[in-house]
Amino acid sequence: MTSLNQTLFDKSQQLIPGGVNSPVRAFRSVGGTPIFFKKGLGSKLWDVDGKEYIDYINSWGPMIVGHAHPAVIKAVQEVAANSLSFGAPTGLELEMAEVINKLVPSMEQVRLVSSGTEATMSAIRVARGFTGRNKIVKFEGCYHGHSDALLVKAGSGLLTFGENNAQAVPSSAGVPAEVVAHTLTLEYNNVQALKELFSKIGNEIACVIIEPVVGNMNLIVPTQEFLQTLRELCTKHGAILIFDEVMTGFRVALGGAQALYNIKPDMTTLGKVIGGGMPVGAFGGRKDIMQCLAPIGAVYQAGTLSGNPVAVTAGLATLKIIQENGFHDKLTAQTKKLIDGLVLAAKEANVTFSAQSVGGMFGLYFCEKCPTSYDEVMQSNKEHFNKFFHSMLDSGIYLGPSAFEAGFVSAALSDEDVAFTIKAAKKAFQSLVAS
Ligand SMILES: Cc1ncc(COP(=O)(O)O)c(C=O)c1O
Repeated sequence: MTSLNQTLFDKSQQLIPGGVNSPVRAFRSVGGTPIFFKKGLGSKLWDVDGKEYIDYINSWGPMIVGHAHPAVIKAVQEVAANSLSFGAPTGLELEMAEVINKLVPSMEQVRLVSSGTEATMSAIRVARGFTGRNKIVKFEGCYHGHSDALLVKAGSGLLTFGENNAQAVPSSAGVPAEVVAHTLTLEYNNVQALKELFSKIGNEIACVIIEPVVGNMNLIVPTQEFLQTLRELCTKHGAILIFDEVMTGFRVALGGAQALYNIKPDMTTLGKVIGGGMPVGAFGGRKDIMQCLAPIGAVYQAGTLSGNPVAVTAGLATLKIIQENGFHDKLTAQTKKLIDGLVLAAKEANVTFSAQSVGGMFGLYFCEKCPTSYDEVMQSNKEHFNKFFHSMLDSGIYLGPSAFEAGFVSAALSDEDVAFTIKAAKKAFQSLVAS
């Protein structure tokens, strides 16, 4: 008999392109049918056919306190009773700005939006408006949302800043080459490439945008030297350094990656955790830069639902929980325990595998050692990952459906969940060797 899940997917494909509202959900990379969910509680999810899973995606990061946390749900229900939107200021937005400023002090001023894409797109516009320059720099394998200027093919690092940047190729149809002509791409963790670019055109660069810990080409950790050099070069040449902490914010540490690596960016973008599962993004930074924004400055940016009271309330309730004593220590330790168990299980099964974690984010790689760049991560064994993924899914473990996605842990993940996951992984690793 066809499952309800399969029926829903078959029907969805008739009305929704690919049957999904965001491509990564489609299981194209691993094959098979995406799971349709109906309920989440704590560390667990249930699909429409009633099967239970331990969740390691957590909505791609936001559900850091676990699904349907009673304090978050209660706060949302209470505020929703007072109307869902005003399109006018509320005290909640001020409260959110105060919390962000307290936890991420480099964000002297902040503006709320409704997604990470809006946050990065707006931050870049502000950086260009402030500097009066056009060129922006990003890194191969980093994802900053789907705005036109940031969808540049991750070409081979150094080459992408030829004399006239002739190789900046849009990575999506529908993006004119002219739109990405000002977007330069460098290899992540390549200090030499950074220095060369800045020595050539440093004074033309409006901003550099970076995931300070990358979560969009699996998990890639920066070297301290790389981030430090980037900071120094931006300062020297008057380019704005934007840390895109949409994924890392409040997740790798309470103060984000900038606290972990002790680097102060000029601007920061946030998303995911600040909405606690509802659509909230934010961008902010140095006051002199943020003062460029309308209505006081010349850079235009706006949003009908920006600072939406219900969404902001979900975020505030989540941020309150993660500020509790020891929250990140526990999250970090639990994630590390999971990683250590998986590495050991792979070793026992004699499977080539490595893994690492930063705070509540982790990376699993079917290669000898943890990669440090896009090129390295691309060399991992994708076929092994896909088999591992499906074996884990059968056992009720919901991992990101691609070898190139990071994993996310919530504070609700119990010791029993970790033990169950490692047991399932043992079976999955053994099946790889047997096949
Ligand atoms: C680092 C980073 N920046 C920006 C975005 C875009 O955020 P959103 O999907 O909310 O538009 C993402 C999404 O995954 C992200 O990981």
